[in-house]
Amino acid sequence: MTQDELKKAVALAAIDYIKPKLHRDAIIGIGTGSTANCFIDALAEYRDDFAGTVASSEASALRLESHGIEVFELNSVNSISVYIDGADESNHQLQLIKGGGAALTREKIVTAVADEFVCIADESKLVKTLGDFPLPVEVIPMARSYVARELLKLGCSPVYREGVVTDNGNIIIDCYDFPIDQPFNTEKAINNIVGVVTNGLFAIKAADVLLLATQQGVKTLR
Ligand code: 5RP
Repeated sequence: MTQDELKKAVALAAIDYIKPKLHRDAIIGIGTGSTANCFIDALAEYRDDFAGTVASSEASALRLESHGIEVFELNSVNSISVYIDGADESNHQLQLIKGGGAALTREKIVTAVADEFVCIADESKLVKTLGDFPLPVEVIPMARSYVARELLKLGCSPVYREGVVTDNGNIIIDCYDFPIDQPFNTEKAINNIVGVVTNGLFAIKAADVLLLATQQGVKTLR
């Protein structure tokens, strides 16, 4: 199977996973990226079986609406049953790097609200140690140089992602050359830099379940 076929396979597995949780009041959290897009497309068939969604990006909201799926503001819902999203990397503890698509802050907010976070990915995303993928950090624009200098002190090579403005009007700095042995501590240390909005480590709240598409089928990791 190609990588695209693996993404479609894991999106269908996620549909099977959430089907028993669908009911008329259920709100589903929806992530961002090509794997999440496969999930959105597959979800369209079930649009009448749940109340609606909360999206982690403007792009996902538009795609959901194009399928006639209701999208709610996060502030207008009381709970989210399950959040489905991709990842750039996952380790075996289901701690993640996310934010390749620059949607990390809203993703982390929706994750915080959701009762359950189900990550969907193809097998190329599973790693022993996080950090081959450059860790994205969302930063308030005026703090860009200061935050870059502070990130340098943590041992990475920070690179400004040119031309990218997040849905929140901020910029992204990607941390290269940064093997992350202690994701929990690194997530906290970067959050403590003034001017950082969020970083793409999801370790303090890792995924609850990883549906991983492999050539041998979709595996469920917990
Ligand atoms: C967006 C993300 C995505 O989940 C991550 O980049 C994975 O994307 P894809 O499914 O396209 O590989 O965190 O900010």
